[in-house]
Amino acid sequence: MTGASLRRRDDGAIELRVDGVFVMDDRETTSERLLAHAAADAGAREVLVGGLGLGFTARELLTEPAVERVVVAELHGEIVDWMREGAIDGADLLADPRLVVVVDDVRDVVADQAPASLDAIVLDVDNGPDFLVHPANAAVYGSAFVAECARRLRPSGRLLIWSMADSPTLRSVLGEHFDEVGATPVDVRLQQRDEHYWILTAARHGAVRADP
Ligand SMILES: C[S@@+](CC[C@H](N)C(=O)[O-])C[C@H]1O[C@@H](n2cnc3c(N)ncnc32)[C@H](O)[C@@H]1O
Repeated sequence: MTGASLRRRDDGAIELRVDGVFVMDDRETTSERLLAHAAADAGAREVLVGGLGLGFTARELLTEPAVERVVVAELHGEIVDWMREGAIDGADLLADPRLVVVVDDVRDVVADQAPASLDAIVLDVDNGPDFLVHPANAAVYGSAFVAECARRLRPSGRLLIWSMADSPTLRSVLGEHFDEVGATPVDVRLQQRDEHYWILTAARHGAVRADP
């Protein structure tokens, strides 16, 4: 099965799958919402989000009155159609004048932004560098794209990345282009099991570093 699909489980939850692989459901969304808060609590007003999914990160950002502009990059246009048509919640998000959804690869959407124009870039497009659903998304966690993100951020900007597991390799890549790097576990409850997901954070303390 290629592309995105929705499945209504017996317990009533909606699952999003991509190429037949489970991506998320609408029951355990703590980490998706925390991603938004990690950006908003740092004062972000203009944010780019990679991956619309079921819209929890975007919704949480838009609950913040200080957030003025949210650009969401989504690879699968059918997800945006389902949201617009009501198959999944979020038609109200699409109607918010602060939100722009671009159906394209997040790498191209980031490259199209003006330099130093964003306060935060939030990436939740895949399961993290070691658990890819889309093999092409390996580049999202690579040095060239992380550098591209750094150039699109304002001097105090932040890059936030959702991951199924901590990744020392990704932290090291982030450290090539940002001044401060962290990894925070997020407790989640998955099918009666306590687990944790991770949010990797990279912040700048001034002008973007010159490429080595
Ligand atoms: C885990 S979901 C995002 C969940 C979202 N944070 C939420 O709150 O619902 C990942 C999304 O990223 C999209 N995606 C995957 N690769 C992408 C890429 N390279 N560029 C843009 N979107 C991508 C998938 O289609 C999916 O909708």
